[in-house]
Amino acid sequence: MKTKILVTGGTGFIGSHTVVELQNAGFEVIAIDNLWNSNIEVLDGIEKISGIRPIFEKLDCNDKAGLEALFTKHSGIKGIIHFAASKAVGESVQNPLLYYRNNLVSLINLLDLMPKFGVEGIVFSSSCTVYGQPDELPVTENAPIKVAMSPYGNTKQICEEIIQDTVHSGVDYKSIILRYFNPIGSHPSVEIGELPNGVPQNLIPFVTQTAMGIREKLSVYGDDYNTHDGSCIRDYINVVDLAKAHVIAVNRLVEGKSKANVETFNLGTGVGLSVLDIIRTFEKVTGEKLNYQIVGRREGDIEKVWANPDYANNELGWTAKETVEDTLLSAWKWQLKLREKGIM
Ligand code: WQD
Repeated sequence: MKTKILVTGGTGFIGSHTVVELQNAGFEVIAIDNLWNSNIEVLDGIEKISGIRPIFEKLDCNDKAGLEALFTKHSGIKGIIHFAASKAVGESVQNPLLYYRNNLVSLINLLDLMPKFGVEGIVFSSSCTVYGQPDELPVTENAPIKVAMSPYGNTKQICEEIIQDTVHSGVDYKSIILRYFNPIGSHPSVEIGELPNGVPQNLIPFVTQTAMGIREKLSVYGDDYNTHDGSCIRDYINVVDLAKAHVIAVNRLVEGKSKANVETFNLGTGVGLSVLDIIRTFEKVTGEKLNYQIVGRREGDIEKVWANPDYANNELGWTAKETVEDTLLSAWKWQLKLREKGIM
């Protein structure tokens, strides 16, 4: 009998890659998504890669009655990986109430229903954005949480606190919080990848769309930061490496191996790369010349952040393995596939 895992946001960028790794690891997956920011065709890609089409229900986690019906219909769900959330930093500044309602209520609904259906654990998708600009680098899980730079970042901080308080109140489930750095790339099969709706907010899809000629040029938001080349530094982590960490985390929960009621891990490579490093590496591995222009800083950007991944490496037995070269090449191959399929 396979262990049943609910993946919310299961057709999204990180969610879809995690569904593949869960199925490869022998879990039975129930994927839900409201399809606001993803497409149901992603299920075809998941099936092509793993040979299994996950159970899928179009459902919004803000619909508590719908969630209750789901848990009733698919009895025996043991663990949840909760990806479903709005995640665009800039959009959250423009529309904060959408972010607070969507990101907080969806989590609260899940936490509220878990005891009734015997769900043993929840893995929560958090972000290094909770650290703001760390005082010390690389940043560890013990670094102070800074005042959020955006409503998006604030929702991640508040959700972490909601989990801490709820688990502390004595519910009989546990949680693992995963703080991602910058997820990039696509599955090596080129069957699934990042497919942002509209104009990309994040760097890598904008890079690949510029190289493809979809965007006229890439704006580099500032080269006057206190870094080796003046552009911002981030810890770019391969999305498949990230997905594999989720399988380890949910297995730790359902196998009762957690060492605390709530555990928190940084998921990063431990290497910081600047925007200009990324551009140079992309051009090197693809042979494409990127049209970019240095412009002013983007509001809300922090200067530099990269992870100290030792705790996740040692405690979870997980390490990011893919190189940034291979990861950028995978993003480019995905962009080429989207053109070949006439999608963009
Ligand atoms: C990376 C760097 C930009 C676009 C956010 C969230 C994080 C996660 C990823 C969800 C920055 C620069 C970008 C462009 C640029 N969210 N940039 N030109 O802001 O580090 O992280 O998205 O999972 O939680 O905080 O990611 O890709 O937007 O930016 O110069 O067109 O690239 O200034 O330095 P960010 P990003």
